[in-house]
Amino acid sequence: MDHLISIAKLDLMDIEKIFKLSKKLKNLLKNGEKHHYLDGKTLGMIFTKSSTRTRVSFETGIYQLGGKSIFLNSNDIQLGRGETICDTAKVLSRYVDGIMIRTYKHSDAEDLARYGSIPVINGLTDLLHPCQVLADLFTIYEYKGPLKGLKLAYIGDGNNVANSLLNGCSKVGMDISIASPERYGCNPRIIDNAKKQSAQSGSKVVITKDPVEAIRDADAVYTDTWVSMGQEDEKEKRLRLFMPYRIDSKLFSYAKDNAVFLHCLPAYRGFEMTEEIIDGPNSVVFDEAENRLHVQKAIMIMTMERG
Ligand code: CP
Ligand code: NVA
Repeated sequence: MDHLISIAKLDLMDIEKIFKLSKKLKNLLKNGEKHHYLDGKTLGMIFTKSSTRTRVSFETGIYQLGGKSIFLNSNDIQLGRGETICDTAKVLSRYVDGIMIRTYKHSDAEDLARYGSIPVINGLTDLLHPCQVLADLFTIYEYKGPLKGLKLAYIGDGNNVANSLLNGCSKVGMDISIASPERYGCNPRIIDNAKKQSAQSGSKVVITKDPVEAIRDADAVYTDTWVSMGQEDEKEKRLRLFMPYRIDSKLFSYAKDNAVFLHCLPAYRGFEMTEEIIDGPNSVVFDEAENRLHVQKAIMIMTMERG
């Protein structure tokens, strides 16, 4: 694995390896055993958007692996003053051993990987959030066992998280149903690819406007904020439009009785889901957040260990 830009670029075997290593790293940490796989390595972390989980889990993760991180707020580095991604990639490649980037334009993450000579990990773009979804699938695996044949329902905005869920579920052979309002669906190219991929993995992709149809008999139910970073100007309109997609007890009751509830966080109670859902017995959102740490450590090892 050279980079992690999109789950669509991974082999199923890479995903299985990430999960196996994540489980091992989780156990090592719980048992207090040192696991310095990346002794002396440095991770540069470029952020042009806010973050709690991604920043803290990558920083803590590289430290636990024996390495060090450098937090690069785009306003503090020359990228924020117009230096090109291409030059930034070439320069950082001379100093650090890997780059994690959270930014707006997906092509910036791709260009970093193209022009640099070190591994690049996508920590969220407007298009995708692959680290999140690998942690989500790992969490579902912990609760439900083998993923193939399970059904995930995503209710809400067809955003970066939903796009990566399409990539991830279709790759591992999980059925995925997505319900979004008209014009707020997932990226059409990603839907097409997921449909092709699911035909190979023996799963189904269903895209609908009807949340009840999507959630029916789901093993895992997922939602995310209706207003992603960069969409603040559309907030009022979005909150009105998405209200019929709020997950409450009534909507959740159409899923399987033991369905797990996931959310990448940050969550907005009373909007994309009610309090009784996110704080209720089926919610696994904090295990999911914890798993960002373990899964991203596996991703860093698999991309950065060789260099
Ligand atoms: N889920 C997630 O990526 O959270 P942050 O925005 O806090 O990093
Ligand atoms: N879709 C959200 C995810 C935040 C982790 C956003 O892009 O803001």
